[in-house]
Amino acid sequence: GRDKAEYMTSLFRSVLGFPKEGINFRDFMPVLEDAKGLQILLEGLEKALPVPADSFDSVAGLEARGFLFGPALAARLGKGFIAVRKAGKLPPPVIGEDYTLEYGQARVEVESDAVSSGERVLIVDDLIATGGTAKAAADLIRKCGGIIAGFSFVMQLEGLDGIDSLGPYPTSTLVSMPA
Ligand code: PRP
Ligand code: MG
Repeated sequence: GRDKAEYMTSLFRSVLGFPKEGINFRDFMPVLEDAKGLQILLEGLEKALPVPADSFDSVAGLEARGFLFGPALAARLGKGFIAVRKAGKLPPPVIGEDYTLEYGQARVEVESDAVSSGERVLIVDDLIATGGTAKAAADLIRKCGGIIAGFSFVMQLEGLDGIDSLGPYPTSTLVSMPA
């Protein structure tokens, strides 16, 4: 409940001016380092799934921080895990999706047999800010023939319309903070 959300929020460390001036970096690592925090994180994501667990087939996590808890969540749910990686890390054949960041271009990739046609996928990441990363992952999974069941985030940054930018998908976030 609310106490757990407050406890988890308290574990995020805020670092002003990282990675550049004007950014208030929300550091997620202390949540993982805290035994209780890690339990609350996994239990919270499982309880707050945006859709019932039997309405999706697998969990996709976004490199890098989505890799830190996505496989654990997938295992708790009895699902497999799909790694959505930054470009150039996976051996061929891969399927990729280019997207635009605030400065410049980026690309995410999956191994080309990672997603089956019609596979229903829950996308997870630690944090949604602009939504650019999660949107690119969703576009990539659709390109592979997958169906987006929904999105789960640990943290939402307020005022950036990240969730709206994803489209009309069921979405859950555990905690929320100003950008
Ligand atoms: C961070 C965060 C999300 C993304 C959110 O990842 O982990 O994946 O940014 O931002 P957005 O909603 O504006 O796209 P980042 O690529 O900075 O680093 P990471 O490799 O440590 O996950
Ligand atoms: Mg990330």
